[in-house]
Amino acid sequence: MTNKLVYFIGNWKMFGDISQIKSIKLLHQVSSKFKKKRKRNKIVLCIPNSLINFFSKNNKYKSISIGAQNCHHKEGYGAFTGSESASMIKKVGAEYIILGHSESRLDGDNNKKIKMKIQSALNANLTIIFCIGETLKEKRAKKTFSVIKKQLRESLNIKNNPRKIIIAYEPVWSIGTGNIPNMSELKKIFIFVKREIKKILKIKKSPILIYGGSVNDKNIAKFSSISEINGFLIGGASRSPKKFVDIIKNYYT
Ligand code: 13P
Repeated sequence: MTNKLVYFIGNWKMFGDISQIKSIKLLHQVSSKFKKKRKRNKIVLCIPNSLINFFSKNNKYKSISIGAQNCHHKEGYGAFTGSESASMIKKVGAEYIILGHSESRLDGDNNKKIKMKIQSALNANLTIIFCIGETLKEKRAKKTFSVIKKQLRESLNIKNNPRKIIIAYEPVWSIGTGNIPNMSELKKIFIFVKREIKKILKIKKSPILIYGGSVNDKNIAKFSSISEINGFLIGGASRSPKKFVDIIKNYYT
């Protein structure tokens, strides 16, 4: 295995409370252990907005960063009851933000809105974790590549800073189901997505592309065979510190 940087990003969704600050020590320990073995890794916890300030103030580990899970598409401040802008999220200590998650798309996000969110989050100097992926219906209709291409083309543009963008391929049919893609199909999708991103952002360097959907400590080893994978977006299993730590351990061993 090469010495590439691997992201382990937890998405807590609408779960969690301040008592879970304890879990970051365990994550820091496992991160340091592998860094000493020259396995470069980065852990990000994307937590509910209500916890961001507390977690960022109490997190003393450089190996761990805090992120949010969505924001309003308008910048700055405004009359948008119940919403928070990217800059407000940044001010309380987030460094990363998930945008375009399929659960947010179900709640009204579309490619156009996500494009505005990406721009406002980049303006706020957040690193984007931009989620793309097809539904089961689209997969069965063999539309995976066209759906992904449309999502990428309608939300990204050449003005976006590629160093601040992580793309997460999360097939909707895999989220929370225990089903993961066939590894040879996944490799093809990763090669395709990287090629598309390079075209859209007009870059030569390989973009950061991670996988999300039912990643756990039992199946993680399978993914290490795909060299194009730069990390993981982990839902359910990231809420248990033990499971999260075991995912990292089993990826490397
Ligand atoms: P699960 O890992 O629970 O399938 O969730 C994936 C996800 O939605 C991460 O953003």
